[in-house]
Formats: sequence, structure tokens, C-alpha cells
Amino acid sequence: MKTRSLKIALSVTAATTAAMVLSAKLTASVGDQVQIPTSSADFFQRGTQPTLDGSGFELIQSSNGCSYCHGGYSDRHAPYDAWVASLMGQSARDPVWKAALAISNQDAHLSGEFCIRCHAPGAWLNGRSSTGDLSLFEPDDFDGINCHFCHRTVDPNPSLQGDAQGYPKNVDLTPDPEVLAPLIAANLLPSVDHGNGTFVVDPADVRRGPFHDVPQNFHGGNELIFSPYHSNSSQCGTCHDVSNPVYSPGPNGELVLNSLGQPHPTMNKHEMFAEQRTYSEWLNSTFATEGVFYADRRFGGNHPTGVMKSCQDCHMPDQAGGGCVFYDDSDNTVLGEFERPNVPQHSFAGANTWVIRAVATQLGDDAEFYGLTPERVDASVARNVQMLRDASDMALTQQGSLLKVRITNESGHKLPTGFPEGRRAWLNVKFFNAQDGLLQEFGHYDPQTATLQTSNTKVYEAKHGISEAVAKATHLPPGTQDHLTLNNVKLFDNRIPPRGFTNAAFVAAGAAPVGYSYSDGQYWDDSLFPVPTGATSAAVTFYFQTSTRQYMEFLRDTAGDGSGVTAYNLWVQHGKSAPVVMDSATIQLTQSNPADVNGDGQVNGADLTMLLGNWGGSGVGDVDGSGTVNGADLSAVLSNWGI
Ligand code: HEC
Ligand code: HEC
Ligand code: HEC
Ligand code: HEC
Ligand code: HEC
Repeated sequence: MKTRSLKIALSVTAATTAAMVLSAKLTASVGDQVQIPTSSADFFQRGTQPTLDGSGFELIQSSNGCSYCHGGYSDRHAPYDAWVASLMGQSARDPVWKAALAISNQDAHLSGEFCIRCHAPGAWLNGRSSTGDLSLFEPDDFDGINCHFCHRTVDPNPSLQGDAQGYPKNVDLTPDPEVLAPLIAANLLPSVDHGNGTFVVDPADVRRGPFHDVPQNFHGGNELIFSPYHSNSSQCGTCHDVSNPVYSPGPNGELVLNSLGQPHPTMNKHEMFAEQRTYSEWLNSTFATEGVFYADRRFGGNHPTGVMKSCQDCHMPDQAGGGCVFYDDSDNTVLGEFERPNVPQHSFAGANTWVIRAVATQLGDDAEFYGLTPERVDASVARNVQMLRDASDMALTQQGSLLKVRITNESGHKLPTGFPEGRRAWLNVKFFNAQDGLLQEFGHYDPQTATLQTSNTKVYEAKHGISEAVAKATHLPPGTQDHLTLNNVKLFDNRIPPRGFTNAAFVAAGAAPVGYSYSDGQYWDDSLFPVPTGATSAAVTFYFQTSTRQYMEFLRDTAGDGSGVTAYNLWVQHGKSAPVVMDSATIQLTQSNPADVNGDGQVNGADLTMLLGNWGGSGVGDVDGSGTVNGADLSAVLSNWGI
């Protein structure tokens, strides 16, 4: 163990020095593109820092050692079995991440270190990320966001402790101040809710968990202590708000590159570029205050009240069973009496239904050795599909000649949330005549080419891009998108807010809608489709897709090391990120006058205004169903005037 850390220490120091010399002297370029000459310093964030000499910090261990007792007995509640087939468990093997990492390093020198911090925190803490790529990784570093890492995290804001529902307040948390004191002294204590991977990790191998009544400590010489922090959303928030620290507000309010070679001038996330805001979206929702009760108990498993508050409530649902193999009934051991009603399922189910299969495919014959059995992978995908079904509700109503589709966000943050690139949800609407013949389709998706007709339907998504100044500095064409580390402009964001949304709070959190508007309190969105003449029914489907063709082609064509081609080929092999049905419903329609554009029973000025408001567009006002709102539609309205 000791020799291993020494070897690492040497290579880290050498690599860091070499990198600093490089960035000082050179501006490397990729094709015509000019690389931003950043260095590690530009990506510095507070929190526990990588261990450079292996002393004073016990290295993060792989999850294999935990799996003997915490795995192999139940996909439903054994921590290892669900975790290993989650995207969090495979975050450092994710081929999409590897391609994006390569592009990030091309775009901004050594920026990959920042990516590794969150996607492979074990590798980062163990001092193997200074090259910004995967070249220093040891096999265990691909263990992703693992058991040992998460269960050594310490609450940087101890005032939260004891707030966790139902836990005793008089708990002995004495080790925490000891862990925090050196960070405070070195000005490394992260500010509250900063995110950006500013985790605090106990330098000693002390394991922390949600239960204060663990009957016996089976962890050898390692202390096991109760930690309310682990039931708190802020634990997840350390990584689920992502802000790019190379930018800060310039004179015109536009985000501009910092003077390089030093940390962000204010270290304030509100003065960086907000890439992801899942935690902030949640923090400014009803979930963070009183919580939300779901009568159908769609989330939370065995949760005692059904009121969903924290990330853990929805993403780690309570299961009956043993927290370790000895305590599990299915094993029929004498210790079965220690089964709990609320073992948190380590499923971390989200929305990604293809990447976990791609990881298993890449591992090939080794997949089972790494814990990815076909059963676990299937169960994980099924949980994510279910999560997507539970994420929204859809209601259809006819308003005269219009079909109204309302999507209500039932998740704990925006819908969709998180990673901005390539994620989208959309409506597909099909109108049928009395013979069930298809009259018209909106939002057609072709699974062969993975092409969506976006022009005539509602697509929920976020789009980020680069400013003119960044285009100039990098020689990339203006309007360039998808370059995660270069993006400094929000072009569009119509993702549906969660319950409790207010514009003021979301503006302050860097999570405001862009190019779209929601009123305070609105956690749904309505779309209107014109009912074509002769339509007697409509079928509406709400779809989610993780990775669009456009994004996968970008990765394929941009990553210089071939990782993009690998990711693209896996995407093709796994159904091109086949859209998942979130909701579907049909409605019977009655005929009405199509010239009554707003469906209020009369053709009048209001219809004219609506039609003119969408002139040249498609959908609303397209009275004759030609696909475009034009003169013919105007004549139809005028000739029906007053009817
Ligand atoms: C502060 C933590 C953090 C940092 C730093 C970070 N990420 Fe992420 N990343 C996340 C989280 C959280 C998600 C999951 C969000 C989701 O699934 O919607 C994610 C998701 C992704 C995905 C989507 C993976 C998939 O399978 O679709 C890619 C690609 C990615 N990140 C690339 C990067 C790159 C490249 C960098 C460095 C420039 C980076 N990330 C830095 C936290 C981080
Ligand atoms: C020799 C068996 C064994 C091994 C190996 C093991 N554990 Fe445990 N662990 C247990 C048992 C038994 C419990 C108690 C479960 C319960 O009370 O439900 C437990 C409980 C825990 C808890 C919950 C503590 C709490 O207060 O809620 C955490 C966290 C934990 N283990 C982490 C780990 C990690 C991380 C590893 C690997 C680095 C690991 N364990 C390896 C047997 C083991
Ligand atoms: C060390 C950083 C880190 C912490 C802490 C963290 N996450 Fe994540 N999380 C990530 C990254 C990175 C990804 C993206 C992995 C990928 O797609 O490759 C992710 C992905 C996810 C996903 C998306 C999975 C999918 O299938 O789309 C969910 C859900 C999630 N995390 C929930 C949580 C919850 C709940 C917690 C707190 C208990 C948490 N995370 C804590 C970094 C973190
Ligand atoms: C009320 C239940 C609920 C709560 C609370 C909740 N989520 Fe989610 N989350 C969902 C659902 C449902 C989805 C799937 C739909 C989607 O992608 O938005 C989801 C999806 C996600 C994803 C994947 C997004 C993507 O498209 O890749 C991430 C990451 C995530 N949640 C993280 C979190 C974090 C972090 C918290 C706490 C700060 C949290 N969630 C709180 C229900 C919840
Ligand atoms: C993203 C961080 C994260 C990762 C990774 C993670 N856990 Fe946990 N774990 C938690 C949180 C958070 C809780 C408490 C959830 C709650 O209170 O609802 C928990 C609870 C537990 C418990 C308590 C259950 C019991 O019955 O004692 C055990 C044991 C445990 N984890 C073991 C593991 C093991 C083993 C792994 C790896 C296979 C692992 N965890 C990976 C965050 C994590």
C-alpha cells in the first residue's frame, strides 16, 4: 500500500510540473481550433484536495471489498447489486463521458481534471487525475462514484445535522469538527451548497451511514458512525450543481474568460457558467420545504408517509430487507431478525436507458466479473424506464378545433433535468379519421435515422453555446454548441419547472427558463394542436431520449482520440438511444369549425390575432391543415367571420 502511494506521488508531481510548463509556453491547437491554455489552477475548487504523498489520507478503496457483505443477495435491496448497474456506479466507464472528456481536454488544457473530480472521485482523491485524462488511472479507479467514497463524505455545513426527519438529535458527531478544522484553517471549506464536487472526505477510513442502530460493527478496525448528512439532499448536491469556473461576468454582464493560471476570482458559483442546476432546482421547489405527498405512492418504496422531500426519498427508495448479507431473510440466517423496513435501494434510477448496456457490452466477457450481470443490467434499465413513466402526467382536452396537451412535472426538479447536451423530451400527436386512418402526425420520429421532426411539435430541452468572444478566441464558428467546457451562453431552456417554482428564485439560482416563460407556481406546460377536418380521435405520446443523433455525431466527429467513434458505434449498436414512453393516451374528438382557431365557439378577432401571431408557422392557425399558416387560412377565418 505504502509503496503504491509513493509511486503515485512521484508521477503526479512530474506530470503537474510538465503541464504547467506546457501551458505557460504553448497554445496547442486541434485542427483550426485554438485550445484555451488553462491549467489545473483554473479549475481549483475547495473541499478535500487530492492526496499527493499518500500520507494523512487513507486511499479510497474499490467497492469489491464491500460487495462480500453488501452484495450478491438481492437486486432490490443489496447496496452493491443495484449500485453496480447504476450510471453512478459506472460513471468512469461511461463511453459518452469518455468522449466528452477527450473533447474537453482538446478545448481547454487539463480541464479533464475537473470532469474526473465528479465522475471518478476515487481516482481524483487518490491523486491520479493531474493529466486531465485517464492515463494515470489504475483499474480500481474506474469504479466510479463508489461505496467507500460516498460513505466517507462529511457534512461541510454541520448546522444541517440533526435536521433529518425522525433521527435523534443528540448524536455524537465528534469526528466531524476534527475533519473540518484543517480545511477551515487552509480556507478550503466549501461555501454552503456550492456543488462542483467540493466534497469533504474523512481522511481516515471512518464509514458513515444513515442508521444509528447498527447492531454490530463488522468493519474490522474501521469506525462506523451515524451520519444524518447521508439522508440529506446536500450530500447529492455536492455534484448535482455543475458550474464552469473558467468564466466570470465581464463588463457587459456576459460571461468572459478569467485571467488564466489562477482560481476563479470569487469562487462564487453564481458568477460561473451554470451547466447543471438539478440541486438548485430542487432547493427552490416545494420538495425542499414541505415535501409532496403522492397518493399513488409512485416514489419512495416503503416510505412511512409517502411525502417525498429529499433526492434520496425518490432516488434511493426504502426497501424491506437486510443492509448486509448476514441480515437478509432470503439467506435464512439466524441474524434475519435485523431486517429493516427501510434499506435505501442504491439504484439511483434516473433517465438513462442505454449507456449501462453499452458499458456491459464494452466489458464483454469481463462484465460479470465487474458485477454487471445481465439480470442486474435488465433490472436497472427497467427501473429507469419506470422512473420516466412516473416523472410526468399527461391530460388531453379538446377546445373546439384545438387539442390541448398538458404535461405536468411530477419529478423533484426540472423535467428533464441535469446534463444539458443531447437530452430531450417531446410530444408525438397522431390524428385519425373514423376509419382509424392516420390524417396527420406531429413530432414524427424515425427510429432508423434517429431523426425527429421538431418543426411542428413541442420539444423540451436546454441548449448551451459559445459567445462571439469565445468563438474568436478558439477559432470555432460562432453559434457552436455542445462544447461543454467552452459553453458560456444559454440559448434556450423550456424544461418544465418543479412544484414551487418562482421566476425570482430560479433566476437567482441560474436556472431560469430561456426563450420560454413559465408563471410563478407553474409546474406544467400546455401545447395546442389544430384538429384536422375529419379527425375523430387522437393518440398522444410523450417521449424521452437520452442522447440525440446530433450530439452523438458531434462526439464521433470531434474527439481526436477515437473515443467519440467508440461511443457513437455503441449508440448505434444499442438502438440509437431509443425514445422511452413517459405517457401515452388517446382522446375521442368531436368535429368543430376549424376556423374557430381558439375554440371558444365563435370566429372573431381573437382567432385572427392567434392566426397572425403564428403567421408562416405550423400548427395553431393552420385552418386547412396545409402545414403552414398562410393566406388560405386567413381567408378561411374571414369567410367564417361571426359564425
Ligand atoms: C460537479 C460535478 C461534475 C463535474 C465537474 C462534471 N460533471 Fe459531468 N455530470 C455530472 C452529473 C451529476 C451528471 C449527471 C446528470 C444527468 O444524468 O443528467 C453528469 C453527466 C455527464 C455526461 C452525460 C453522460 C451520459 O451518459 O449521457 C457527460 C457526457 C458528462 N457529464 C461529461 C462531463 C465532462 C466532459 C466534464 C468536464 C468538463 C464533466 N462532465 C464535469 C457531474 C459533473
Ligand atoms: C464483513 C462484512 C462487511 C464488509 C466487508 C463491509 N460491511 Fe458495511 N456493514 C456490515 C454490516 C453487518 C452492517 C450493518 C447493516 C445494518 O445494520 O443494516 C454494515 C453497515 C454499513 C453501513 C451503514 C452504517 C450506518 O450507520 O448506517 C455503511 C455505510 C457501510 N456498512 C459501509 C461499508 C463500506 C463502504 C464497505 C466497503 C469499503 C463495507 N461496508 C464493507 C458488514 C460489512
Ligand atoms: C461525486 C459526485 C456525485 C455525488 C456525490 C452524487 N452524484 Fe449522482 N451522478 C454523478 C455523476 C457524475 C453522474 C453521471 C454518471 C454518468 O451518466 O456517467 C450522476 C448521475 C446520477 C443520476 C442519473 C442516473 C441516470 O440513469 O440517468 C441520478 C439519479 C443521481 N446521480 C442521483 C444522485 C443522488 C440521489 C445522490 C445523493 C445520494 C447523488 N447522485 C450523489 C455524480 C454524483
Ligand atoms: C419527487 C421525486 C424526485 C426527487 C425529490 C428528486 N428526483 Fe431526480 N428524478 C426524478 C424522476 C421522476 C426522474 C426522471 C425524469 C427526469 O429525467 O427528470 C429524475 C431524474 C433525475 C436525474 C437524471 C436526469 C437526466 O435526464 O439524465 C438526475 C441526475 C436526478 N434526478 C437527480 C436528482 C437529485 C440530485 C435530486 C435532489 C437534489 C433529485 N433528483 C430529486 C424524481 C425525483
Ligand atoms: C452516491 C453516494 C453513495 C454511494 C456511491 C453508495 N452509497 Fe450507500 N448510502 C448512501 C446514502 C445517501 C445512504 C442513506 C440513504 C437514506 O438515508 O435514505 C446510504 C445507505 C447505505 C447503507 C445503510 C443501509 C443499511 O441497512 O445499513 C449501507 C449499508 C450502504 N449505504 C452501503 C453502501 C455500499 C456497500 C455501497 C457500494 C456498493 C454504497 N453504499 C454506495 C450513499 C451512497
